[in-house]
Amino acid sequence: MSNRTFTMIKPDAWSNGHAGAILDQIIKAGFKVISLKLTQLSPERAGEFYAVHKERPFYGELVEFMSSGPIIAAILEKEGAVAGFRQLIGATNPAQAEEGTIRKRFAESIGRNAIHGSDSDDNAKIESDFFFSGLERF
Ligand code: CMP
Repeated sequence: MSNRTFTMIKPDAWSNGHAGAILDQIIKAGFKVISLKLTQLSPERAGEFYAVHKERPFYGELVEFMSSGPIIAAILEKEGAVAGFRQLIGATNPAQAEEGTIRKRFAESIGRNAIHGSDSDDNAKIESDFFFSGLERF
C-alpha cells in the first residue's frame, strides 16, 4: 500500500472561497503536503484527466466544469492515504456524505462537489504524474 494520494480542490470550492478552510482540514487530519499548485485545466487536459468517464452521460458537463476556473492540485502523504483521504472527503454526492466531511461542509452537488480524491494507489500515481514533475515533490 502506498502512503500517497492525489487531490484537486475543484473550481466551485475555489470560487466560493473555501480553499483555505479545505486545506486547513486536510492538514489538521494529518496529511503532509508533498506538492501543491494553483492552476487551471484546459478543456482538453480536463478531458484527458477524466478519460475513464468518457462514456458517462455527465462527461461533457464534468469536463466543462473542471476547466471553468482555477483548481488546486496536490499530492498528500499519510499512512493509508488513499482510503483515509476518501473518508475525510466523504461520498461523491454531498447529500450522502457524512457530517463533518469536506464534501458535506463545502460541496454544492454531485457535479460541483468541491474536491477530488484518488480512488486507488495506481490512480494516485497516474494523477500525481499528470500534474507534477519529480522536482515539484518535497
Ligand atoms: P470525482 O470522483 O472527483 O471524479 C469524477 C466526478 O464525476 C465525480 O467526482 C463527480 O463530481 C462527477 N460525477 C459523478 N457522477 C455525476 C453525475 N451523476 N452528474 C454529474 N457529475 C457526476
